[in-house]
Amino acid sequence: MSVYLNNGATTWPKPVCVPEAINQFILGRGANLARGSSSGRDIDTLDLVTTTRQKLARFFGGFRKADPRYVTFTGNVTESLNIVMKGYLRSGHHAVTTSMEHNSVMRPLRRLEAGGVRLTMLECDSRGLLDPGDLLALLERKQVDLFVFSHASNVCGTIQPLAEIASICLKAGIPCVLDSAQTAGVCPIDVESLGLSACCFTGHKGMMGPPGIGGVVWEPEFAAKVFPLIEGGTGSFSDDERHPEKMPDRFEAGTPNLPGIAGLSAAVDWIFETGIDSISEREKRLGKRFFEGVEGTPGLELYGLPAEGERLPVFAMNFTGIDNGTAAMELSDRWGIETRPGLHCAPRAHRTLGSYPSGALRISVGYFNTEQEIDIAIEAVRTIAKEHQA
Ligand SMILES: Cc1ncc(COP(=O)(O)O)c(C=O)c1O
Repeated sequence: MSVYLNNGATTWPKPVCVPEAINQFILGRGANLARGSSSGRDIDTLDLVTTTRQKLARFFGGFRKADPRYVTFTGNVTESLNIVMKGYLRSGHHAVTTSMEHNSVMRPLRRLEAGGVRLTMLECDSRGLLDPGDLLALLERKQVDLFVFSHASNVCGTIQPLAEIASICLKAGIPCVLDSAQTAGVCPIDVESLGLSACCFTGHKGMMGPPGIGGVVWEPEFAAKVFPLIEGGTGSFSDDERHPEKMPDRFEAGTPNLPGIAGLSAAVDWIFETGIDSISEREKRLGKRFFEGVEGTPGLELYGLPAEGERLPVFAMNFTGIDNGTAAMELSDRWGIETRPGLHCAPRAHRTLGSYPSGALRISVGYFNTEQEIDIAIEAVRTIAKEHQA
């Protein structure tokens, strides 16, 4: 038996409608986007892409009556963050982020820093939480051009106070860019009412879609200030050798991941039908069961907030007497439990939590986990802690 507890890496399994939609696209439609003779298949494909943009505009709150043109498709949130940050920030700009970021935020920022962008990192506390007062104080003292951060930590599940942070940025007139990798599909995010400049998402985690599809939901005036990083064929304005300024073409060039869009579209339908609240309630319940089952175990150190805190069911831990890589192997070999050890592409987050350089073992719960699986994981974690403490 296998127990999948690595949903922070990618959710699995997917709702069955997702592989079905991908299959249907490849077998039935299979046409490229805006690169045909307006056959039925061409129109079906255009319809799929347009409808999915509309759904995503609704899913994320959307702008100007959920204008689907301001939804850009990318391959994943990493690409989205690169498009936004490298397209907006210039030498001499000042970008601010937190000490809990994934390398998808950190590495593009370090590249930009090498090119003359000033970078400030706000330190989060040892539970991974940002104090919005620190951001406010910085904005009062310094000129800032962009604030970018992850809604929730992929290491320990801590959820940042998004509404408060977004409101501070809005009042200061600073573009606020969100990495929603861990929260989209699990926490409601209304991009317009929060006043975000760009919300970057990935389709394969809480959104339940396949890997290889992600995107950006833009605030229109901000989008107009971002230089397009990738230019090329769009199937539109083909008489012009310059890349179109118009949305959605401005940030999309080359053939999109159409099977991925088909899968994501079905996944978003599934989330609408199931309800974000009931998805989140179920995940929280399973997470609480796990947390309470292992909390206080001698020889086990847990990082992040307690079960009742603003957190996702993503748990980082270390054992006395066994390194987290070996513990992950034991969980896999003896109980069939799939987890992720190490640094989780977020070394500074581990420094913040006190688990650098060895990292931690991450157990991340998903909607399709069962109580029985959680109980197996509790028993396994307690057993490893006990055996290695001696
Ligand atoms: C917070 C966070 N940001 C960014 C990413 C990168 O996601 P992707 O590989 O889909 O681009 C992840 C993936 O683990 C993540 O958890």
